[in-house]
Amino acid sequence: MNKMKVGILGAGTMGSGIAQVAAQNEHETILVDVNQEMLDKAESSLDKILARLVEKEKISADDKINIQGRISYSTDITDFKHCNLVIEAIVEKLEVKHQVFSKMESIVSKDCILASNTSSLSIASIGSSLKNADRIIGIHFFNPAPLMPLVEIIPAVQTSEATLKTAKDLIDAWKKTTVVCKDTPGFIVNRVARPFYGEALRIYEEGIADFATIDWAMTELGGFKMGPFTLMDYIGNDINYAVTESVFEAFYYDPRFKPSFTQRRHSEAGYYGRKSGRGYFDYAEGAVIPEPNRDPILGQKILDRILAMLINEAFDAVFMQVASQEDVEKAMTKGVNYPKGLLAWADEIGLEKVLAQLEDLFQEYGEDRYRPNVLLRRMAVK
Ligand SMILES: NC(=O)c1ccc[n+]([C@@H]2O[C@H](COP(=O)([O-])OP(=O)(O)OC[C@H]3O[C@@H](n4cnc5c(N)ncnc54)[C@H](O)[C@@H]3O)[C@@H](O)[C@H]2O)c1
Repeated sequence: MNKMKVGILGAGTMGSGIAQVAAQNEHETILVDVNQEMLDKAESSLDKILARLVEKEKISADDKINIQGRISYSTDITDFKHCNLVIEAIVEKLEVKHQVFSKMESIVSKDCILASNTSSLSIASIGSSLKNADRIIGIHFFNPAPLMPLVEIIPAVQTSEATLKTAKDLIDAWKKTTVVCKDTPGFIVNRVARPFYGEALRIYEEGIADFATIDWAMTELGGFKMGPFTLMDYIGNDINYAVTESVFEAFYYDPRFKPSFTQRRHSEAGYYGRKSGRGYFDYAEGAVIPEPNRDPILGQKILDRILAMLINEAFDAVFMQVASQEDVEKAMTKGVNYPKGLLAWADEIGLEKVLAQLEDLFQEYGEDRYRPNVLLRRMAVK
């Protein structure tokens, strides 16, 4: 297994991180990008990252030299010729992915696995550009790839059992937490987590509470590491909005995933969050951090509503066989650091109580968005 030669296409945020992971796991690794500048940037940033790891005594100076020695950088895609696995991490455009997958297939051996790190495209659609599509698979890392433990493994309808097994065994051997999920929009994490943002935005839009209060309720009362608005500012409102919109479209406009005007306007205004200096909050030097309304009744109401929506989504993912119960729990705790698995959390609260909360919302609003999942219903009445 460790002798596998790994190719990474795209030396941006994700590709450079995945190359680091592969090289740290003793694979000869080739990082290819069309842009030499991106390769230079990836090489110098890896040097800094590894130097810090040496400083912190996480790796030795020799390890650093060995890791760097295992990665080669190239603008020539034919250098993938002897790879056993190539992970693609280039722009999120289907036409471009089709071109490169078809090109890669003409270069690599017939046994080489071709994987995509896509967040929003279907693996089946990417695989359709291959003659031998049973080698296609989704291997979805989270950002930053060297630090985030979760990797979603996504077999497409075309993927063979052998491809799935080899890919999963390999990423397990890299000591990542793998979860296997169906080739459906948002896979596990980007689907189940949608209400964390969407319901928070909705609560704000209804005038129930401001950004700071909603964030306070979710962190102080819910135990989440970051509140939804702080997290959206961290991810970038442009990126987070694009993911929401793509999941909404991919689910045939299911109202559960409806994007929000508030986020769209913030994104349109250039209020992306931390990276632009302003999002829902102001990140300028000396800016005043708004105080939340620490009313415990209001806070509990906010937490209960967002949590009920998250739990409903987790039940839906299990009901629709997107992933096993265990993998849904793992994905949300390891991928987005939720304080508890959502299904375990539902048990703790009481399934009847969660169901009643959703039924009340459904009754009050008359919106399909709040319909309780059938698996939750069935289990609550047992
Ligand atoms: N950024 C994230 O948080 C994140 C997380 C998980 C998955 N992803 C997915 O990973 C992929 C890459 O995202 P990113 O954020 O690293 O992008 P990025 O913009 O940082 O990097 C993309 C790189 O691909 C290169 N590139 C573009 N076209 C190419 C081609 N035809 N051949 C070779 N190289 C090419 C670019 O020069 C650039 O260096 C996307 O599919 C994205 O959906 C991103």
